[in-house]
Amino acid sequence: MKIAILGGTGNIGKGFALRLSYKYDVTIGSRNIEKAKASAAEYNEILEKYGSDDRIEGTDNKTAAQNADIIFLAIRYENIPSVIELITPILDKQIIVSVVVPMARDRCYINPDSSTLMIDVSDKDYNANYFCYSTPKAGSAAQEIAMLLPEGIELVSAFHNVPAHTLADLDKELDYDIGVCGNSMYSKNIVFELARDIPNLRPLDVGPIETSSMVESLTPLVINIASRNKLKDLGIKFV
Ligand SMILES: NC(=O)c1ccc[n+]([C@@H]2O[C@H](COP(=O)([O-])OP(=O)(O)OC[C@H]3O[C@@H](n4cnc5c(N)ncnc54)[C@H](OP(=O)(O)O)[C@@H]3O)[C@@H](O)[C@H]2O)c1
Repeated sequence: MKIAILGGTGNIGKGFALRLSYKYDVTIGSRNIEKAKASAAEYNEILEKYGSDDRIEGTDNKTAAQNADIIFLAIRYENIPSVIELITPILDKQIIVSVVVPMARDRCYINPDSSTLMIDVSDKDYNANYFCYSTPKAGSAAQEIAMLLPEGIELVSAFHNVPAHTLADLDKELDYDIGVCGNSMYSKNIVFELARDIPNLRPLDVGPIETSSMVESLTPLVINIASRNKLKDLGIKFV
């Protein structure tokens, strides 16, 4: 099975490329083909150090998507519309995987004029320093993406809560649950398999695509807890 990781030169794309290349043909996409090739070469050097002769390819986003069975959107929320527009003409039967989390800092800012809130400057700064889920109009990033995709193209929303640096560090053992949302059980089963192919990830069925906001919004929660409590490699695990 061929996997394209659009935005594969970025933080989370690197981890998916490295971890999935053990079993799948992975191509990373970029807006810039030279950048994609350079990142692919860097990732292949890492794989070589770990004794793997698997090879990651690098190309432009559209070519990567065209030749894939599964397309990961490892792109920031605000850049999604242009990337979907780019790949729409070549979409056929590929399954799209969204890992996208819309987050903001500025929208969480505590309004100093709000009724009873009395805080001094330092306290205000501290309290302003957190992330929140920036709810898209459609309800979640996945629902927005579903609206942008041509009819018949299946979307699965997953892997939102895995920290990029941990995923990309092959020395790190992962121990996370992966909430998987989507309307097609066929596509979700394929994504379950992808998650199981990364050691110590446990995919869990969350529900249809409408449930994606619940999983997406766990990411700012995890980041806030990690940064305030100085915890590393934090993710989600249901026990
Ligand atoms: N970072 C995490 O820990 C993490 C965890 C879970 C989910 N996610 C989600 O994964 C997605 C990617 O996050 P990230 O941290 O990996 O992001 P990132 O490193 O900032 O960006 C990923 C890639 O997006 C491409 N890009 C930048 N501007 C673009 C534009 N205007 N149009 C199209 N592509 C553009 C860049 O690739 P080129 O320059 O090569 O085109 C870049 O390498 C986000 O939606 C995030 O919410 C992240």
